[in-house]
Amino acid sequence: MRQETPGGEIPVRTRVQPTRRRVAMDSTYFKRYRMEVDLTAPRSAPALPPGYRLVPWNEAVLDVHARTKFRSFRDEIDALVFPCLGSLDGCRRLMREIRNKPGFLPNATWLVAHGTAPETLQWCGTIQGIAERGGGGMIQNIGVVPGHRSLGLGQCLIERSLAGFRMHGLRRVTLEVTADNARAVRLYQRLGFRRVRTVYKVADEATVVA
Ligand SMILES: CC(C)(COP(=O)(O)OP(=O)(O)OC[C@H]1O[C@@H](n2cnc3c(N)ncnc32)[C@H](O)[C@@H]1OP(=O)(O)O)[C@@H](O)C(=O)NCCC(=O)NCCS
Repeated sequence: MRQETPGGEIPVRTRVQPTRRRVAMDSTYFKRYRMEVDLTAPRSAPALPPGYRLVPWNEAVLDVHARTKFRSFRDEIDALVFPCLGSLDGCRRLMREIRNKPGFLPNATWLVAHGTAPETLQWCGTIQGIAERGGGGMIQNIGVVPGHRSLGLGQCLIERSLAGFRMHGLRRVTLEVTADNARAVRLYQRLGFRRVRTVYKVADEATVVA
C-alpha cells in the first residue's frame, strides 16, 4: 500500500463510501475534496507584499520547509486529519518522503521569507509539488504561518508553484483539501480550482470494515 501523505493519494482502504462501509464507533471521517485546475489557460503572477520574497528549492532548505509546515499546520484541522502535521518530527519525516518521491518537482516547491538579516529573517510559508505518473501535477501541502495570513502569500505561493508545474510541461494540477477548511477551499476556488471528487479520510487507525 502506498505511503499516506496529506497532499497525496488517499490509500485505498480509506477511500470509502459511508453508505457501503462502516467505521468503528470512535472513528471520525473527514470529508475531503480533490480539486483540479487547468493550466492551459493564461494565469496572472501576483506581487508579494513589501518585505516578502519567494525562495526556491535547494537541498539546504529541506528542514526549513519542515519547520514552516509545522508552524503552519500545528493548530489546524489538518493536524487532526494527518497527525504527522501536528509534530515537528512528523513534518520532517513528511518532507523527506516528499523530497524522495520520484516526481518531486523543485520548480513547484517554494518558501516565502520576510526579511534578510539573520536576526530578523522569518520563514512564512511553504508549498511543495510532485509530478504524477498520469501527466498531471499535485500540490502536496501549502501552509502560511499565522501572523502572515490574509496578505496574499497563499495565492502567491500557489501561482509560483503552478508556474513551476507549467514549466515542466504539465497541463493540470490537483490537490486535496479538508471540506471544513473553508478558508483554503475559498482560496483554491478563487484561483480556478474545481472540485472533481469527494473522498473520506478516517482520522485514526481504526479498522474500516465492509
Ligand atoms: C489556507 C492558507 C494557506 C491561506 O493562506 P493566506 O496566505 O492567508 O492566503 P491569501 O492571503 O492568499 O488569501 C486568504 C484571504 O486573504 C485575503 N487577502 C489576500 N490579500 C489581502 C490583502 N492584501 N488584504 C486583505 N485581505 C487579503 C484573500 O482575499 C483571502 O480572503 P478569503 O479567505 O475571504 O477568501 C492559510 O490559511 C494556512 O496556511 N492555513 C493552515 C494550513 C492549511 O490548512 N493549508 C491548506 C491545506 S489544503
